[in-house]
Amino acid sequence: EKAGFDHFMLKEIHEQPKAYRDTMSSRISADGASVTLNELSMTVEEIRKISRVHIVACGTAFHAGMVGKYVIEKLARIPVETDVASEYRYRSPIITKDTLVIVVSQSGETADTLAALREAKRCGAKVLAITNVVGSSVAREADDLITTWAGPEIAVASTKAYTSQLIAFYLFGLHLAQTLGTQTADEIKEVITAMKALPEQVEAILAQADALKVVAEDMAKHDNLFFIGRGLDYAVALEGSLKLKEISYIHSEAYAAGELKHGTLALIEEDVPVIALATQHELLEKTVSNIKEVKARGANVLGIAVEGEEELQKSVDSTFIIPKTLDVLSPALAVVPLQLLSYYASLARGNDVDKPRNLAKSVTVE
Ligand code: M6R
Repeated sequence: EKAGFDHFMLKEIHEQPKAYRDTMSSRISADGASVTLNELSMTVEEIRKISRVHIVACGTAFHAGMVGKYVIEKLARIPVETDVASEYRYRSPIITKDTLVIVVSQSGETADTLAALREAKRCGAKVLAITNVVGSSVAREADDLITTWAGPEIAVASTKAYTSQLIAFYLFGLHLAQTLGTQTADEIKEVITAMKALPEQVEAILAQADALKVVAEDMAKHDNLFFIGRGLDYAVALEGSLKLKEISYIHSEAYAAGELKHGTLALIEEDVPVIALATQHELLEKTVSNIKEVKARGANVLGIAVEGEEELQKSVDSTFIIPKTLDVLSPALAVVPLQLLSYYASLARGNDVDKPRNLAKSVTVE
């Protein structure tokens, strides 16, 4: 059932190209010029009325939601707030009839996420669910549904569900942009063309797994490490850090790179590993200056960079290169090396990769 892989997690990491294709294919027009989300019941009129979006989820699904916020704001220019589901209900969120609440859940059974969905509906908002389990509670109770076709995810650490959630957000962001006219036809086509290249690009990253194994085995000797990044790279840094903690039990922190000097820099000392995500073209110069700040304090920096950005290599100790894509799509590639690093670090520490201590696959209690 593990199809020749040692663990479900590794199998699921390798299933991502297929999950991307399955989640995208039936929703992109044959000419690659538009997306078609036929499953949505919301009308053009209803979409025009959306004045704000709330994205609510837990854990890894919440991190997908952070990317979703960026995507929707960029493509559709609608203001988006993100909340961890266990906090949402208790902060008296301002939910009106023109609020679209998006809940994201792999299992569709997470108690906090389900409760947030019910609260949103009670307040009269429309709820769109992004879930991986057809017929789950979240899927049944939401007004609208985008199913991620990642297939069953068995490992506790979520991988292919997260990346499929990113694809769902790209599709929905494009759907909004098409309806609202916030992007030109050419801009929409450019994103779709780049999305179609993602599965093969993930395959190219997976082919370099051995190099990541070596890095992970060194990481596994440390008790503390840091992830830094700006913009979308910060959202990916949070996900990379969660994955690492969850299965390797190595303590790590993810920081918006510009925030380091407001406290965390005090923790950087000789030989501390720092994983610096630098995939955002527009922010590259700023990220490099933050990398220099940690280098100057002795950090050992692994840069995650995009093909063609050779400049960065001069400022870091080692680099992992991901294929070129649009800045907005880079999380769908940049997270993959981080998943592999966590997997190999967990293995090196002799942990039960698929069933980390203290955790359940689906959290059905508050
Ligand atoms: O099933 P859900 O997507 O609602 O689960 C949410 C979180 O419990 C889940 O993503 C958790 O953070 C993962 N174990 C992380 O790998």
